[in-house]
Amino acid sequence: MDFKWKRTHTCGELSKANATDAVKLVGWVARRRDHGGLIFIDLRDRYGITQIVFDPKKNPELHESAKQLRGEFVIAISGTVSLRPEGMVNRNLSTGEIEVGATGLEILNKAETPPFEIVDHVDATEESRLRYRYLDLRRPEMQRNLLVRHKTYQIARKYFDSHGFIEIETPALMKSTPEGARDYLVPSRNYLGRFYALPQSPQIYKQLLMVAGMDRYFQIVKCFRDEDLRADRQPEFTQIDIEMSFIDQEDIFGLIEGFMQRLFLDLFKKKIPVPFPRMVYTDAIARYGSDRPDLRFGMEIEDITEIVENCEFNVFSGAAKTGGFVGGLNLKGAAQYSRKRMDELNQFVLDLGAKGVVQIKVESSGWNSSLVKFFTPEQMNKINHTLKAESGDLLMLMAGAWDQTHQFLGHLRNKLARDENLINQNMLGLLWIVDFPLVEYDEPEGRFIACHHPFTSPKDEDIPLLETAPEKVKARAYDLVMNGMEIAGGSIRIHKRELQQKVFKLLNIKADEAEKKFGFLMEAFQYGAPPHGGLAFGFDRLVMLLAGCSSMRDVIAFPKTTSALSLMDGAPAEVDLAQLDELGLSLKQRS
Ligand code: AMO
Repeated sequence: MDFKWKRTHTCGELSKANATDAVKLVGWVARRRDHGGLIFIDLRDRYGITQIVFDPKKNPELHESAKQLRGEFVIAISGTVSLRPEGMVNRNLSTGEIEVGATGLEILNKAETPPFEIVDHVDATEESRLRYRYLDLRRPEMQRNLLVRHKTYQIARKYFDSHGFIEIETPALMKSTPEGARDYLVPSRNYLGRFYALPQSPQIYKQLLMVAGMDRYFQIVKCFRDEDLRADRQPEFTQIDIEMSFIDQEDIFGLIEGFMQRLFLDLFKKKIPVPFPRMVYTDAIARYGSDRPDLRFGMEIEDITEIVENCEFNVFSGAAKTGGFVGGLNLKGAAQYSRKRMDELNQFVLDLGAKGVVQIKVESSGWNSSLVKFFTPEQMNKINHTLKAESGDLLMLMAGAWDQTHQFLGHLRNKLARDENLINQNMLGLLWIVDFPLVEYDEPEGRFIACHHPFTSPKDEDIPLLETAPEKVKARAYDLVMNGMEIAGGSIRIHKRELQQKVFKLLNIKADEAEKKFGFLMEAFQYGAPPHGGLAFGFDRLVMLLAGCSSMRDVIAFPKTTSALSLMDGAPAEVDLAQLDELGLSLKQRS
């Protein structure tokens, strides 16, 4: 049959209003059911599912050919729309009130039995899903995720365009710039022994665009970082990258809050309140043990250092007397925890590198703990009071260095919230973290390193401290946090050569090294660099949260595994020796 298969409708389109219409549909066979002579096909495309019926009484020949149909065959059908009999209506489908009685069928392509069923809530391993990604992406759930991603691109482009931003592409083959991670290198064939680097971000280019007078730049751009991967990291990921001239932090906050409002309004018809709360970095660490605190639940860290300074429990008094920190969390109503559960939590903090967590059950008669003998009733009362402890609660206390102990407690706080379902899923937990330190001391490297990147401006009032107490210098840097995840980060930049040189010096980047690496930026700063600043969203993280996914890989069409492999095409792969030769490279050994 010469089937003219151009469709009249998609599989998500037909409704009651189309009854008696003659239609042509194309798609994949999602399901075939044989019922009392009738053959039912669920025909699937990106837009939905439509039920097709082959009736042997009406067209025996066609019914016979429908028997060949198997899952994932690509077919075209013609037919007539009819209302489904009462009782057969499927309220879960947008097309659930109709079906199409087939009058023609063409098999456009056959398919092997797929390695997993193309349905939502698939039980295939992620490995198999990544290996056959093109099949995984056929699943409605994945198509919805990519649609959220698509809409987010469009909303971003429209929003930033309407605010005077121009989209400018920056090179993917560039000179290595230090942003904290390792570079992916690309060898040059024309200049043997020289390498391009793939951008960790377009940071330097966007600053140069400000020097170039572009005033407001944005780009939706791929970034590449060869770093140790974690669940929320990919070796190549996307940013919405933004830079503006003649602005301060407040302008960035206003712009980005407006963008977030627009996103929620356009995607979910939801109005979100602005301005977002702001928290200084030191408070975030002191209260939540994290610079990306999850505000969707309470359980803040409380400080009992002073109370325990003179107690007889040496672990606590020792830490308190030597400038350390003693404090902890109150897990409400967890006094019924079993020994096994408490051991598990202790093991959790041991695995983080802590020395352990003291767990005290609070009962109406007082503490149920072998540690009671080390504390006076007054000390116990004060601790209870500080942690707002009531009968039935479980106190989790730790002692040690201030920074580390807060970090451990922060991890424990997140774990407890996950395990105990304490997270209010209706909240967004949006907040700005501000006043980051400019630098931190890196013990293994024996030098200061930039907390954000080397181009971040110190606060004006802290500039004198650069030479005397660099660790106390605060940066004009900020992060946007949502649901306990850093979704964007940025800063006001240094725009004067002298200050930039001073910061390089502090970071132990020698003058000749700085010249070699960023001479072009330093040079540009001599030709009238405007004050400027910006920010970049982690686009994949943002979309993941918007789509309600728990893995970033679910919103990336072709992601890498956590070990940086592409299971579908097998990258990274070996190359021919001839290719290496051409690049002037040889391998020490093949892995
Ligand atoms: P930063 O390094 O903080 O800043 O990156 C900005 C945002 O990008 C996201 N992100 C990642 N997402 C997925 N996988 C990764 N490996 C990954 N690394 C970072 C995070 C982060 O908040 N040039 C500066 C921005 C600026 O100062 O304007 C930069 O790249 O959500």
